[in-house]
Amino acid sequence: MRNIVLIGFMGTGKSTVGKRLAQSLSWNFVDTDCEIGEVTSLSVSEIFRRHGETRFRSEESIVVTRLSQQEQLVIATGGGTVLNPLNLSALAKNGIVIALHASLEAILSRIGHKNDRPLLKGPREAIEKLWSERQNVYVQADYIVDTSQKNVDEVVKEILLLLERVMKDELSNAAKD
Ligand code: S3P
Repeated sequence: MRNIVLIGFMGTGKSTVGKRLAQSLSWNFVDTDCEIGEVTSLSVSEIFRRHGETRFRSEESIVVTRLSQQEQLVIATGGGTVLNPLNLSALAKNGIVIALHASLEAILSRIGHKNDRPLLKGPREAIEKLWSERQNVYVQADYIVDTSQKNVDEVVKEILLLLERVMKDELSNAAKD
């Protein structure tokens, strides 16, 4: 059974939705930022501050490689994880990749006031630039779910329906072969 991998910008709901989705499927949930935190015993902000983004990205790739070799996981990635094409291809090889999309307004109203994301510290223009530059990476996902106007339950329900459809298609294709 392949993994389910959630990608997307900060604040699109990857961790919250992922946790709930894993519960619904009775699968294990993992969050790459938390895994990095466990390995390094540092928070994301501390790694950025003490060692810089390059070190964070390298820890992130190690975590991705390890998780990509496992099965039946719901994986919430960090917003920048799939900027590295090697991370995306490792995750996609063994997983269904779902991008959670949200408008910049929705993102800022959800997490704009929080202080735990080093890359959200700049002015709105800088965040907007990052958000728009990254959209062409996230669209490489197998499926895209817009979370802007939806609550967690609605997003999870939509993903469960999507997965049901994917499984049905895969079964009927397998029967034809
Ligand atoms: C990042 C997103 C964060 C975290 C780090 C860098 C990014 O994760 O990995 O602060 O580059 O977008 P979330 O998307 O879970 O906030």
